[in-house]
Amino acid sequence: MPAFDLDQPLIELASQTERGYWTIRHAVEGVQIFGGIGSGKTSGSGRMLALKYLASGFGGLVLTVKPDEKQAWQEYCQLTGRERDLIILEPGGPHRFNFLQYESRQAKSALTENIVEVLKTVIRAGEEKDSGKSDDAFWETALDMLIFNVIDLCQLAYGHISVQQMYDIVQTIPKSHEQLQNSPQEGEVKAFQKAFEAARKRVTENMDAWFNALPAAQQTILQNEAAFEAELLHALPQARLLKFLDQFFFDSFINLSEKTRSIIDFTFAGFLFRLLREPVYSLFCRGDSTVTPEDCLNGKIILLNLPVKVYHKVGRDCQILFKYIWQRAMEKRPVNPQARPLFLWADEAQNFLHEHDADYQATARSSRIATVYISQNLPNYYACMGGQKAEFRVKSFLGTLGTKIFHANADIETNKYASELFGEAYFEEESHSVTVSQNFGQTKSKSLKLERMVRPEEFVRLRTGGPLNNFRVEGYLHRQGDALLRGLNHTKMLFNQHYQPSPTR
Ligand SMILES: Nc1ncnc2c1ncn2[C@@H]1O[C@H](COP(=O)(O)OP(=O)(O)OP(=O)(O)O)[C@@H](O)[C@H]1O
Ligand SMILES: [Mg+2]
Repeated sequence: MPAFDLDQPLIELASQTERGYWTIRHAVEGVQIFGGIGSGKTSGSGRMLALKYLASGFGGLVLTVKPDEKQAWQEYCQLTGRERDLIILEPGGPHRFNFLQYESRQAKSALTENIVEVLKTVIRAGEEKDSGKSDDAFWETALDMLIFNVIDLCQLAYGHISVQQMYDIVQTIPKSHEQLQNSPQEGEVKAFQKAFEAARKRVTENMDAWFNALPAAQQTILQNEAAFEAELLHALPQARLLKFLDQFFFDSFINLSEKTRSIIDFTFAGFLFRLLREPVYSLFCRGDSTVTPEDCLNGKIILLNLPVKVYHKVGRDCQILFKYIWQRAMEKRPVNPQARPLFLWADEAQNFLHEHDADYQATARSSRIATVYISQNLPNYYACMGGQKAEFRVKSFLGTLGTKIFHANADIETNKYASELFGEAYFEEESHSVTVSQNFGQTKSKSLKLERMVRPEEFVRLRTGGPLNNFRVEGYLHRQGDALLRGLNHTKMLFNQHYQPSPTR
């Protein structure tokens, strides 16, 4: 494997007197591109960065919103000689990723916790953020507990988990104590009851085996019921688990009000239902995986061709699911000084944010993940990250992306943000004053005035590419940390929509 040097320049910046470099080190500190519709985000700065990353041998993950993104990336890979590294995960294609199987192989010990974490992250990312519900600790806890207990029940009963089993169980959890008492007709034992009986049977068998293996003296002591239970729960974790399941389903969950119950049931079952339908089922829930996040470590580029504009909610759910599993896997990899950088690419990124993104972004640099998020404006992010304190959360998240590129934009909020970010500087101001005492003589004086380096309205006028602009897109690039040029952290740049890469390796 080639060694990767963090100081390798990707973009060279030049002024009349000096040169500056934007390097792989800056790439792995993350990039955010903002710009209005048609401002040149995708075809200007986005395209150039993608080609630079590919030409430098990065592996990566590409999420898609528009149907033409697959073709664009095929072209980028072709231009950089990376066609053979591109893996397209799409309906009807040769690849699939069985996420439950993958997770089961990753972490045997904390399997339930891992799967719960994945499912709840995806479910929450898809919730309406302005309903106020997503910030309600009660809903979240109740939903988490349901997911947790359904997965544990599945595991205990059958020794493995499948989306179909989880769905069937959620659909048939008794709704009331009366329903519980009515014994089912012959042949209509429901999935929930079946699972519970299977779990009970397994625990009973293990319990008998455990008890029979005890020395006779201890068996006598354990004739006492309380002593027996205490010892059993201690010795047999499965028995403890069954007790928890029993308490959850028959004491807590069944007593929730009908409305609460149905919202929680529907949220979880609705999500599972979408996964059970084709084409998603065959891509993410069935068979052996032909592609895993680890492929990127060998330089593969995985593109999820389930564009949100075509597949809507399920396209989004599946991509967030893969993204989150990918982020966790990449964070775990050992990073040595020569490790291959990887990119995480999301155009129209507001579609793919989840609650742990800020945390992952904070450590992305040390795991050499070069995130590129492209979105029109800040309000897009407010709406998606949502809940209370949206503005604060979005801004602190943006703080974890080291480089920002601003293209033409009519959004006042974004332009103000950029202008503030670039800061203020002292400019010389000439003022004229007329003094009466000196026979109307004029004096010119120079004073220093503190002004914005780039005023918010300047972003409205930037060039947006196309034939009229000779295919040049204007943008301001801002990098936090070291200055770029002339002691400044920002510089105005031209991005060529017809940029051609020169492979560096
Ligand atoms: N390959 C290309 N060559 C020349 N011009 C292009 C090309 N792709 C797009 N354009 C034009 O350049 C301008 C910028 O387009 P681009 O798609 O990059 O904008 P964008 O900022 O990504 O917009 P959106 O928010 O709609 O995705 C548009 O006027 C578009 O018509
Ligand atoms: Mg675009």
